[in-house]
Amino acid sequence: MPRRGTPQKYYDRIAHRYDSMYDSRYWDLYRRVTWEHTRPLLPRERSRILDIGGGTGIWALKLARAGHDVVCADISHQMVDQARARVEEAGLAGRVTCIHSDLQDLKEFADREFGAVWAQGDPLSYVADPGEALKQVARVLRPGGLFVASVDNRFAGIGHFLERKDVAGLEQFLKTGQDEWLAERPEERFPVTFFTPDGLETLLRRRGFEVISTIGKTVLPLRKHEALLEDPQEFRRLLDLETSLNRERALWGGAGHLETAARLGG
Ligand SMILES: C[S@@+](CC[C@H](N)C(=O)[O-])C[C@H]1O[C@@H](n2cnc3c(N)ncnc32)[C@H](O)[C@@H]1O
Repeated sequence: MPRRGTPQKYYDRIAHRYDSMYDSRYWDLYRRVTWEHTRPLLPRERSRILDIGGGTGIWALKLARAGHDVVCADISHQMVDQARARVEEAGLAGRVTCIHSDLQDLKEFADREFGAVWAQGDPLSYVADPGEALKQVARVLRPGGLFVASVDNRFAGIGHFLERKDVAGLEQFLKTGQDEWLAERPEERFPVTFFTPDGLETLLRRRGFEVISTIGKTVLPLRKHEALLEDPQEFRRLLDLETSLNRERALWGGAGHLETAARLGG
């Protein structure tokens, strides 16, 4: 597969409209699912948290409001600018620092600097070598520190190849998990790793993490049925159903994303 663009190139271009791209009832529910899974796992004491691939700062603000000091870091300078503006507007510049950094090296950070590392929106799927990225995450986390990451789910990609009638491509994809981000502009397409649940958990264990919990996001096919989420009561009921089912491994095949929370061994 030709390697063309980079995530940085793509996200730099769409940074100004990133929030509106994910402004829908489905993505509202998706973020609620994320928060319900992860909030109970956050450190109880005030901690320094790295939000890597932090984008426009959605999670950095939430983590700061939950009482933590956050470094919101991203490989895209334009996304960092968006996050900085948002943090300033929220009056949280004393709690959130926005900087450029690459998950692949995290060279701006000291060993054991953070009590938690947060990687939402799949940056671990976007790096060339996820194992190396996890080594860096383990380096900057203190022992016992929390790592939360969402990634692209390999088994959810099957339909995409069948729609393209690309059986040979499907065989290859299922073996390697490699595909590319289908940006409209071919020069912005970049390689993406789609993880299997076992592959993700095994990689984490190899890097010294203990997996605490994994969920599928979302296991209910609500993107297809987004209209159901318009009514606030139905939204609440579907959110409750989703969170009661999303630890069922049997249902993960249809979930676009997997999210794992893990602790670094001492
Ligand atoms: C889908 S967005 C998610 C943004 C935010 N975390 C959220 O959940 O709304 C993915 C982000 O990861 C960033 N990213 C991609 N590769 C990265 C890398 N190697 N290091 C740091 N950030 C990266 C992109 O620039 C983009 O801002």
